[in-house]
Amino acid sequence: MPPFFPLGPTFMTLPTTALACGIDFGTSNSTVGWHQAGHEPLVPLENGETTLPSVVFFDYEEDRIHYGRAALDTYMQGDEGRLMRSLKSLLGSSLLDGQTEVQGRALPFRQLLTVFIAELKRRAEAHAGRPFEHAVLGRPVFFVDDNPRADQLAQDTLAEIARQVGLREVSFQFEPIAAAMDYESSITREERVLVVDIGGGTSDFTLIRLSPERRGLDERQSDVLATGGVHIGGTDFDRALSLSQAMPLFGYRTQLRNGAEMPSSYYFNLATWHTINQLYTRKTWMDLQDVYRDAVALPLLDRLFNLINQRAGHRLAMQVEQAKIDLCAADEALLDLTHLEPDLLARFSQAQMELSLTPLIDQIGRTAHGVLQDAGLNDDQIDTLYFTGGASAIPWLRRRIAELFPTARHVEGNRFGSIGCGLALEAARRYG
Ligand SMILES: Nc1ncnc2c1ncn2[C@@H]1O[C@H](COP(=O)(O)OP(=O)(O)OP(=O)(O)O)[C@@H](O)[C@H]1O
Ligand SMILES: [Mg+2]
Repeated sequence: MPPFFPLGPTFMTLPTTALACGIDFGTSNSTVGWHQAGHEPLVPLENGETTLPSVVFFDYEEDRIHYGRAALDTYMQGDEGRLMRSLKSLLGSSLLDGQTEVQGRALPFRQLLTVFIAELKRRAEAHAGRPFEHAVLGRPVFFVDDNPRADQLAQDTLAEIARQVGLREVSFQFEPIAAAMDYESSITREERVLVVDIGGGTSDFTLIRLSPERRGLDERQSDVLATGGVHIGGTDFDRALSLSQAMPLFGYRTQLRNGAEMPSSYYFNLATWHTINQLYTRKTWMDLQDVYRDAVALPLLDRLFNLINQRAGHRLAMQVEQAKIDLCAADEALLDLTHLEPDLLARFSQAQMELSLTPLIDQIGRTAHGVLQDAGLNDDQIDTLYFTGGASAIPWLRRRIAELFPTARHVEGNRFGSIGCGLALEAARRYG
């Protein structure tokens, strides 16, 4: 288990204007919360929006860095450069000590994370009109599944990066506990709540007793009945969908002349947000030339080469992500791939998506059930399921969790903001 972070240790009443902020550095979206009495806690980070997509685009044409939606837009407009998404997935991965190439220079992944978090802090400070030196950072229940040392290393790395960008004092809170604190500020009676936070990178749960009377108390550890999580989130759904319905269009699972299958690693990298750029290395290009000589499905590989030449991997991944969202409500989604080949339209099916997501949803369901077991409770002892995180909108996933707790009522949190709001409260309690 990762270390447990106590809820607010000392402060019974919140300051009017907090010294510290809360930072929810998310796999897909980040927020910053700052408690000021009478004001919305989430800080506007990009054109009035309170989320900043965790995306960086190194624009070679303008020789500058874009962040968030601007990064995505500039990439989509076709500017030459390098897009990086899903940066948080680097924490706890073997890639963290590696580097990527940006404009002919090596950029360590660690520095990439630093660049983004520095920008997040800079924007929050610009809004607040003052510097932040103290912060509570959210963290998933597990950065890394079943490996406490790697998990601790991921947290230590994040703390180190936070200090590098000028945060002298940082501490952590589990993301689902932060979401619970946000929900607690709105309730009128005691409830036993399972927080279900399905984000881009992880699914996190906390089973917690919340009540209006206990809201300001400094000792809340006894109210946390269990926490759990698994390293599966919306980006894994994107990968599963891509592998099942997009990658076959580029030769995935086709045969080589010797009867073996096309090596799958290229397709896994292309279907995974934080490894897409690995397709663009010289080595991959050379290796693929070799594979091509043995391949049978040459038109599909030509298409793959075309995609690599156009550096269109993220564009495809965005289309797959959009299809995932659309297929939550429609039987079919059409992907326009005419930028790769005239007349190329791909039709994705909801039924097939449901099939490819099932093993992941099963695993998330088992994790939720494990949290109940850890707390030693029966399913009918949970009053409320509190859903938050972008991927909690997926209907099959919701149904799977709802089936486990048939008597609980459902509450819809602010899907992209509840953790940042909870962290703002926590920062005010811890640092004043
Ligand atoms: N309507 C929707 N239906 C299904 N999935 C959605 C929807 N809207 C957003 N998502 C998915 O939600 C994910 C992002 O959610 P969120 O912003 O909560 O993640 P995050 O906080 O950045 O990640 P994490 O907390 O895991 O680090 C993405 O994978 C996105 O595709
Ligand atoms: Mg999140």
